[in-house]
Amino acid sequence: MRSLFPIALAITMTASAAFAADEPIQPIAAAKIANPAMAELGKKLFFDPRLSKSGFISCNSCHNLSMGGTDNLKTSIGHNWNKGPINAPTVLNSSLNLAQFWDGRALTLQDQAGGPIANPGEMASTHTLALSVLQSIPAYVAEYKKVFNSDKITVDGVTKAIATFEETLVTPNARFDKWLKGDKKALTATELAGYELFKDSGCTACHNGAAAGGNTYQKMGVVEPYTASSPAEGRVAVTKDEADRFFFKVPTLRNVELTYPYFHDGAATTLSSAVDTMGRIQLGKKFSAEENGKIVAFLKTLTGDQPAFMLPILPPSNDSTPQPKPFD
Ligand code: HEC
Ligand code: HEC
Repeated sequence: MRSLFPIALAITMTASAAFAADEPIQPIAAAKIANPAMAELGKKLFFDPRLSKSGFISCNSCHNLSMGGTDNLKTSIGHNWNKGPINAPTVLNSSLNLAQFWDGRALTLQDQAGGPIANPGEMASTHTLALSVLQSIPAYVAEYKKVFNSDKITVDGVTKAIATFEETLVTPNARFDKWLKGDKKALTATELAGYELFKDSGCTACHNGAAAGGNTYQKMGVVEPYTASSPAEGRVAVTKDEADRFFFKVPTLRNVELTYPYFHDGAATTLSSAVDTMGRIQLGKKFSAEENGKIVAFLKTLTGDQPAFMLPILPPSNDSTPQPKPFD
């Protein structure tokens, strides 16, 4: 109905947050945990370094849930101190992404989760080895049976459990969300001015929706080319369409205060330099230090409730568990 009265609306609404639905960014809803037992198993697997060849690297090594779901490194460190090719995106709110990875090559969280275990530059195990490790541990077999009603642990079950856990990693109740829901005192005048500038400058053309990103692929360097410090080609690697060269999944800006450094090559060490680069190369705008500071202040209001839970206690290995190989 409201759209029938755009002028009246503009007058009565001004900059108020009375109608979150009209804002380009929407509040994040708390996770609905449909299968807590499966999520709990997935949590253990997410934290279990025995899914890696070394017995040392877990999903949480690179997606540290104490640090915004990232490793806060330019690019990740994998097996044997392997230098990763690309920055690790956060797993927080990754269930809201249209697809996974910077180039979207995995369609779902479940598709994604099998990749790192067997990636030689990451966890460097094999699915066969990781499964035989789990299968050797009676407490895992019992828990798996409770969840999947099967004695045989499979990649499908392991990745499904991890994905189910990841679906719980949403971060509601950011101050910005409180503001969107009508609490006008949730933002300071500077933060609100930053949000207005963010919208008016055109940032929301790409960073929109509940995750303020994650829902489209866009070119890195629309107005000015971006010189990356890594060889990633972007979406063209998946579609083989030259028009997609240097298109990347727009990252979420949720919790962006915690997920430094920025960009797929991790080249921007501070939020202020990321904002400066975005203004210049995506929109042809040079922000003053004051404008930059306002946008950064706004972006920091996107930090929501971080996942909070008991650290999972993992069942111990035993005589029949394949030994870790940390140095091969
Ligand atoms: C050695 C570091 C490392 C480990 C270990 C690791 N990841 Fe990642 N993860 C990355 C990097 C780097 C990327 C980005 C790769 C790309 O886009 O090409 C990524 C991407 C992702 C994404 C996509 C997020 C997005 O926004 O696109 C998810 C989800 C994810 N990892 C979950 C996991 C899970 C689950 C595990 C454990 C099974 C895991 N990761 C283990 C480094 C790691
Ligand atoms: C044309 C689409 C587009 C516009 C407009 C745009 N961005 Fe981006 N933004 C992207 C893409 C794509 C990336 C990831 C690029 C990469 O790493 O190669 C990104 C990355 C970022 C990052 C880094 C996030 C991270 O986790 O690495 C920040 C911060 C950011 N944008 C803020 C802004 C701000 C502020 C504006 C407005 C001044 C803006 N963006 C405008 C598409 C856009």
